[in-house]
Amino acid sequence: MAEVDQVIHRRLASKVALVNQISNYIVGAGGKRVRPMLLLLIARALGNDNSQRHELAAVVEFIHTATLLHDDVVDESNLRRGRQTANAMFGNAASVLVGDFLYSRAFQMMVSTNRLRVLDVLAEATNVIAEGEVLQLMNMHDPDISVDDYLRVIEYKTAKLFEASARLGAVITDAPADVEEACASYGRALGTAFQLIDDLLDYEGSTAELGKNIGDDLREGKPTLPLLVAMQRGTPEQRELIRNAIISGEVDRMPQIVEIVKATGALDATREAAQAQAELAKQCLAKLPDCECRDALQALAFDSINRSS
Ligand code: IPE
Ligand code: IPE
Ligand code: MG
Ligand code: MG
Repeated sequence: MAEVDQVIHRRLASKVALVNQISNYIVGAGGKRVRPMLLLLIARALGNDNSQRHELAAVVEFIHTATLLHDDVVDESNLRRGRQTANAMFGNAASVLVGDFLYSRAFQMMVSTNRLRVLDVLAEATNVIAEGEVLQLMNMHDPDISVDDYLRVIEYKTAKLFEASARLGAVITDAPADVEEACASYGRALGTAFQLIDDLLDYEGSTAELGKNIGDDLREGKPTLPLLVAMQRGTPEQRELIRNAIISGEVDRMPQIVEIVKATGALDATREAAQAQAELAKQCLAKLPDCECRDALQALAFDSINRSS
C-alpha cells in the first residue's frame, strides 16, 4: 500500500496548477483505499510479485476518486472524508473537470501495462458505473421502485469497481478462468455488501465517524433499502409518510422516519442483506490458496459490514 501511495502521488502530477490543487486536496484527505487493497491481496494470494500491481491498484483508486468528485456534484454533497467536498471548495465546474482528468489519467496508466484484458475490464467497469449513476438519477424521488431496481443500481455504481479490482488481481497473474471468475464474484459480493452498509449508515451512522453527512439520502429523495423495507412492512400511515418524503425530499420528518425504519426492522434487514453478501464473498475465496492474504480477504469482508466509517 505504501508503494501504491507513491504511485498515486507521482501520477497525480499535472502542468496545470488547479488540477494539482484539487486532486491533492481530495487524495490528501485519505480514504480507506479498499479497492487497491483488494487488488493487491488477490494478486499476492495468487503469487504475483510483478510491479504492475501497484500501478493498477493506483488506477482503481483514481477511477474511484473520479467517481467521488462527480458524485458529490450530482448529490450536492458538502462533506467528504471529514472535509468540505471539492465542489464546495472549488465549485462544480472545477470538480467535474478534475474528475475527468483523473479518469483519463487512469486510462493512460492502464495502457502502460500493455495488457488488452486490463483495458477491457476497466473500460467495461467505468461504463457500467456511469450507467448506474444515471439509473439512480432516474429512480430519484420514485417510491415505487422495486428491491431489484435498487440492487441493480448498487451493483452498477459500486459493486462493479470492486469486481473489476478483484478480477484484475487475477488477470495480471494470468490466473485460470475459474479462479478469475471466483475473484470477480468475491469483489461483486463484497461491493454489494459495502454499499448496503453505506446506505444503512446514512440512517444510523455518525457524521463525525463517517466523514460524510448522514441523512443525505433522504434529502435527495433516494429510495434505498432501509426505506423500501420500511414501506413494505409499515402501516399505511407510515408508508404514506415515507412515500411523501421520498417524493418531496423534505427532511423535516427525518426523526419520525428514522423511528419507522428502526421499528419495522428495516435497518436489521439491510444489515442482514449485507451479511449474506459478505458470506457469499467468503465462499468465493475457496478457489484461492490458503494463505495470509486469503485470511486478510476474509477479514475485509467482515470489516466491510462492521464498519462505522
Ligand atoms: C464511498 O466509497 C462511495 C461508496 C461506494 C459508498 P468509500 O467508502 O470506499 O470511500 P473512501 O475512499 O474510503 O473515502
Ligand atoms: C457513491 O455513491 C458513488 C459511486 C459509487 C459512484 P453514493 O452517493 O451512494 O455514496 P456517498 O455516500 O456519496 O459516498
Ligand atoms: Mg453521494
Ligand atoms: Mg450518489
